[in-house]
Amino acid sequence: MRSLAHTVTLALLRVGLVHSLSAQTPQMGWNSWNTFKTNFDQSTLQTTADLLASTGLKDAGYTYLIMDEGWQDLERDSSGRQQPNLTKLPDGVPGIAKYVHGKGLKLGIYSDAGIYDCGFYPGSYGNEELDAATYASWGVDYLKDDNCGGFYANTESPYTRFAVMRDALKTSGREIFCSLCQWGHQFPWYWADLVGQSYRMSGDITSIYSDTGKDCPVTGCSVLTIIRKMRELSRFQKKGAWADMDMLEIGNGNMTLRQQQTHFSFWAALKSPLIIGADVSKLAADSLSVLKNEEMIAVNQDSEGEAMHYLPELSVEKQSQVWAGALSRGRTVVLVLNEGNVTSAIEVELAKIPGLNAWKLYQVRDVWGVKSVRNIKGVVNVTVEVDETKVLVFS
Ligand code: GAL
Repeated sequence: MRSLAHTVTLALLRVGLVHSLSAQTPQMGWNSWNTFKTNFDQSTLQTTADLLASTGLKDAGYTYLIMDEGWQDLERDSSGRQQPNLTKLPDGVPGIAKYVHGKGLKLGIYSDAGIYDCGFYPGSYGNEELDAATYASWGVDYLKDDNCGGFYANTESPYTRFAVMRDALKTSGREIFCSLCQWGHQFPWYWADLVGQSYRMSGDITSIYSDTGKDCPVTGCSVLTIIRKMRELSRFQKKGAWADMDMLEIGNGNMTLRQQQTHFSFWAALKSPLIIGADVSKLAADSLSVLKNEEMIAVNQDSEGEAMHYLPELSVEKQSQVWAGALSRGRTVVLVLNEGNVTSAIEVELAKIPGLNAWKLYQVRDVWGVKSVRNIKGVVNVTVEVDETKVLVFS
C-alpha cells in the first residue's frame, strides 16, 4: 500500500505544484546496446556520429547518440565519481561529447537507479547528485536510467529512486533528458510522467518479428509481442512522458523489408521514442530508407502527440489488426496489419473508425505505397501482404 507521503507527493505533482519535465515529441537517436552490448569504444561512437550525419539520419531527426552500458569503469574514482573506461574511451566522456556536439548531435549516457547496473558497473543509487553534476560537467545531454542492481535498492520503489535522479538532474546546471528503463515493471504508466520524459513499457526487444506468445518481463520481446502489449497501453501514451517500446531492431537480424516497415510504422504511430539499435556502418539501403521515411517520422513527431489505438471491432485475432489515431490538422492515421499467413483483402468501414465519418469524402495517402487517392467514402478495401502494414492517412 502507498504511504500517505507518497500519495500527497503524487497529488502535488499532478496539480502542477512541482513541475515535471516535458518533451513535446518522442526523442529520436541511436543507442549502442542492441548491436554492440558493452563492446564499443571511442572509434565506434565517432564512426556512428559521422554516419548519422553523412547518411541523412541526423537531418531526419535522429539527434541523440546514446552510449549504453559499457562506457564506465567498474570502480568509481578516488573522489567517488563514475569514470569512463579509458582503454575504450581514451579521450574520456568530454572528448566524446566534443566530437558528438561537433557533428550537430547530442550525447546520451547510461546509469542505473540501483547500486549497480545490470553488468555490475556502479549505479547511481546514493550518488545521484554527484553523478548528475558529473554528467553536466562532461557535456552530457541525455540519461538512460536503468533499474538493475535492485537487490539492495529495491527496498524503495523505482518511483522514489528515479525521483532522486530527476531532482539531481534539475539542479545539475545542464538540461539533461531523462529516459527511464524499468521494463514496464510496477505500472510506470501511472507515475513515470512525474519523474522522466520517457519510460520503458516492456522487457528488452530482440530482433525477432513474430509474436512468441510468451510474456517477456525482462528480455526476449519480439516486435509483435510489444505491439500486442500496446493494445492496452496506448491509452496511457502522453506528451512529454512517452511509453518507450524499446530500441528499433530495423537493420538487425533477418527481418524482411515488410516486417521492418511494420515495426517502424507501429513504433511511429504509437509515439514511441525512435532509437536506432543497428550498426549504422552496416545498414542495408532498404533498412536505411525505412528509418528515414519522412512521412512515418512526421506521424511520430506530429504536434498532437496522440498515439493511435487498437480497434478490436475491426480486427481479427491472429489475422488482421486495425489501429487508428488522430493527427494534427484534423487528419487520421489508420494502420492495417496482416498478421495471417496469406495475402488478404481487408475491408475497413470508416464509420467504425473514431474521427472518421461514413458520409464524408476523404483523400487517402498510402504512406509505404507512396500514392494518394481522392474521393474515398464509406469503406476502403486494402490488399495487405503477409506481415505488411498499410499506413493510410485520411484528410
Ligand atoms: C537493460 C536494458 C537494456 C540495456 C541493458 C544493459 O536493463 O533494458 O536496454 O540497457 O540493461 O545491461
